[in-house]
Amino acid sequence: MSNPFTIERLSTQAAFCDRQDELTTFERYAEDNLKVVLFSPRRFGKTSLLLRVQDRLMKKGFVCAYADFSTVTTVRGVAEEIMQGLFSALHRKESLLEKGTRYLRVLTTFKPIVKISETGYKLTVAPDTNLDDITLFRQTVKELAAFVTNHDVRCCFIMDEFQELTRLRETAELEGILRSNIQGVPASFFFLGSRRSVLLAMFNDKKRPFFKLARNEELAPLPEDDVVVFLQEQFTQAGKTIPEDIARRIAMHSRGHAYYMQYVAQELFYMADTEATLKDLERAEEAVLAKEQYGFAGIIQGLPLQQLRLLKTLAQQKEGKLTSARFIGRSEMAASTIVDAQHKLLEQDLIEKDASGAYRVVDPFLARWLTGVDR
Ligand SMILES: Nc1ncnc2c1ncn2[C@@H]1O[C@H](COP(=O)(O)OP(=O)(O)OP(=O)(O)O)[C@@H](O)[C@H]1O
Ligand SMILES: [Mg+2]
Repeated sequence: MSNPFTIERLSTQAAFCDRQDELTTFERYAEDNLKVVLFSPRRFGKTSLLLRVQDRLMKKGFVCAYADFSTVTTVRGVAEEIMQGLFSALHRKESLLEKGTRYLRVLTTFKPIVKISETGYKLTVAPDTNLDDITLFRQTVKELAAFVTNHDVRCCFIMDEFQELTRLRETAELEGILRSNIQGVPASFFFLGSRRSVLLAMFNDKKRPFFKLARNEELAPLPEDDVVVFLQEQFTQAGKTIPEDIARRIAMHSRGHAYYMQYVAQELFYMADTEATLKDLERAEEAVLAKEQYGFAGIIQGLPLQQLRLLKTLAQQKEGKLTSARFIGRSEMAASTIVDAQHKLLEQDLIEKDASGAYRVVDPFLARWLTGVDR
């Protein structure tokens, strides 16, 4: 009985909970060459979902490129990530060693390097010029736009963790270059990100180059009922069972975060005998908290005291109205300090407003951990 749950990147063949409407909608957007900004809290399933959309598109002959900006630290690195994504996409479609070489006539700023091994191949890119970083970036984006415009191919680009561009000093210039080249290009672009306030500011601030370039789409939490069905199906198919009320608890406790649903279910599957019990679930959730504690500790270590205090107060009580006398009393902070800390925590996506307008800690397990021992 192998464990059907995973917190690793999902393969496009793996079982997938819900998201049928989103798959259809985003596939249509891609066919219509739309530019879309897709946001949600961390680990909701943005990347998994969009890679599935690309998988569907590839079957229809699209060139599907994926670039991830989460670790880029230089302008050159951004250009490299974009071109590596494009070359990998072309190579998947038709080996660059064979027919694909014709594309290389238009894509000249970087050259692809394909290393073939017994287990497959690895594709990297290296700049083929001595241009300075910004010129290299401009040239790269121009080539990308020219490639899409001049070839009879349909393309879908994902730029993941797009807001990380703002960490670079040159962000305004990069945003300007990207906008002027991408706008009107007959290809779809999906800009994904989890630091919502930073990402949305890029697209919705009148003074920023990306203003009104893309449709704003928020990825919703996984619906409780779908999580219950998914968990029960996965348990059954793998030879164990989970009663509905326990599956529902997982859905409620993970608050639609796909990652926690998978993580708790994975631990629970290991712990359960043939049928999962409430006791197993408690142990499974404890195990998840224990494994995540180092990450949580890293988050709070970086927080100034007032922000930590606000985060803890929010985690400890349900009300979430930061301006109420009760909240202010409980936090032992001045109202103006609360407002300041609130802005900073929002910017880091550590807190959010729920549907009723109350604030809460975004990550349900971080909230739980913060209410534990005195931290
Ligand atoms: N629809 C789904 N069904 C089952 N598991 C899912 C689903 N979507 C995502 N997951 C699981 O949740 C985890 C997080 O997914 P993913 O990395 O796609 O989220 P993300 O929103 O891109 O996260 P981040 O903001 O950290 O980039 C993955 O481990 C994946 O296995
Ligand atoms: Mg992601």
